[in-house]
Amino acid sequence: MDIALLGFGTVGSHVYELAKDRSDIKVSAVLSRRPRPELSCAVTADFDEIVRDRGVGTVVEVMGGVEPAMSYLTAAMRAGKHVVTANKQLMCAHYDELLALARECGVSLRCTAAAGGGIPWLTSLARVTRLDTVDAVEGILNGTTNYILTAMTQGGTDYAEALAEAQKLGYAEADPTADVEGLDARRKLVLSANLAFGVSVHEEDIPCVGISHIGASDVAKARELGCTFKLIARAERAPGGAAAFVCPTLFSVSAPEAHTDGAGNLVSLYARRIGKQSFSGAGAGGFPTASSVLSDCLAVQDGCGSYYTDRAEPCGVDNTSVRARWLTRINGAYRFEDCTAAEAFALYRENLASDPTALLARVAE
Ligand code: HSE
Repeated sequence: MDIALLGFGTVGSHVYELAKDRSDIKVSAVLSRRPRPELSCAVTADFDEIVRDRGVGTVVEVMGGVEPAMSYLTAAMRAGKHVVTANKQLMCAHYDELLALARECGVSLRCTAAAGGGIPWLTSLARVTRLDTVDAVEGILNGTTNYILTAMTQGGTDYAEALAEAQKLGYAEADPTADVEGLDARRKLVLSANLAFGVSVHEEDIPCVGISHIGASDVAKARELGCTFKLIARAERAPGGAAAFVCPTLFSVSAPEAHTDGAGNLVSLYARRIGKQSFSGAGAGGFPTASSVLSDCLAVQDGCGSYYTDRAEPCGVDNTSVRARWLTRINGAYRFEDCTAAEAFALYRENLASDPTALLARVAE
């Protein structure tokens, strides 16, 4: 099959590298703003050339951001081309429209690389939803923050230095705010919850706390408690729709999450009949992410349908039914609270008014 690559950054260049020696997938065109004489395929800065090229059956979008990616993918689908994307920001922002358009145009829309990097998380989740009812999804879904927390916990590295290393290794988003403030994990949670529950949740409805307030004294406090911090995204079915949030979480050092190091991800589903299933592996980085992209291309070639699910019922977020234990820090003082997630996030917003570096962390059961 002939594919066109939109974007040639970390993921795009690794897709090219992986496809280079294959006989079943050929990168026939690359959309790039600058000339790339080192490539042995057509290189163009004009997307219309790609969309008009009848030989290109699948468009692979690895450029990121909402525009122009949305316009390109929309045009590609309207031209009858299948679409594979690693773009979680775009998939979250236009979930309903993209699903509907793929169905209308009778083309495949795959985004396995958008959540879990190299882990076949979305495909596994889709498989389970055909057999069982998934009640909850939860996990470490951002490699950059996991890399930073691991470096701070195990190497005593400070936050800024660890973030710079994660950027150098190609894990972080173009704007790392999306990683450290939890937005990237939240987008991956939206895709996971939408698929798991057959719904359409809006990312802005999900309360989100990242890791930027975690400092050396918090790491020391966690150690004193026999725990370690991980950034966790969680969604579960709830009476008022879905309960969902992103928040640093304290895990006992013996928990599997505590042993998920570096840019690793660990994500679990909880289903009624089969129980808990967990998936772990590289959550970011060139080759792992590119592998998921190529695996989607192969799925398209095998005739995979429009999207992983046909269901996308509008769904609100309601965290009033989820109770947990929380650790807060305000003006240097730590306190434990036993309350609902809705109450904990409301308290955190109040705390921020008097201490802009206040901390909120859930304590894992
Ligand atoms: N910035 C993302 C991460 C890349 O660190 O997980 C993979 O989606």
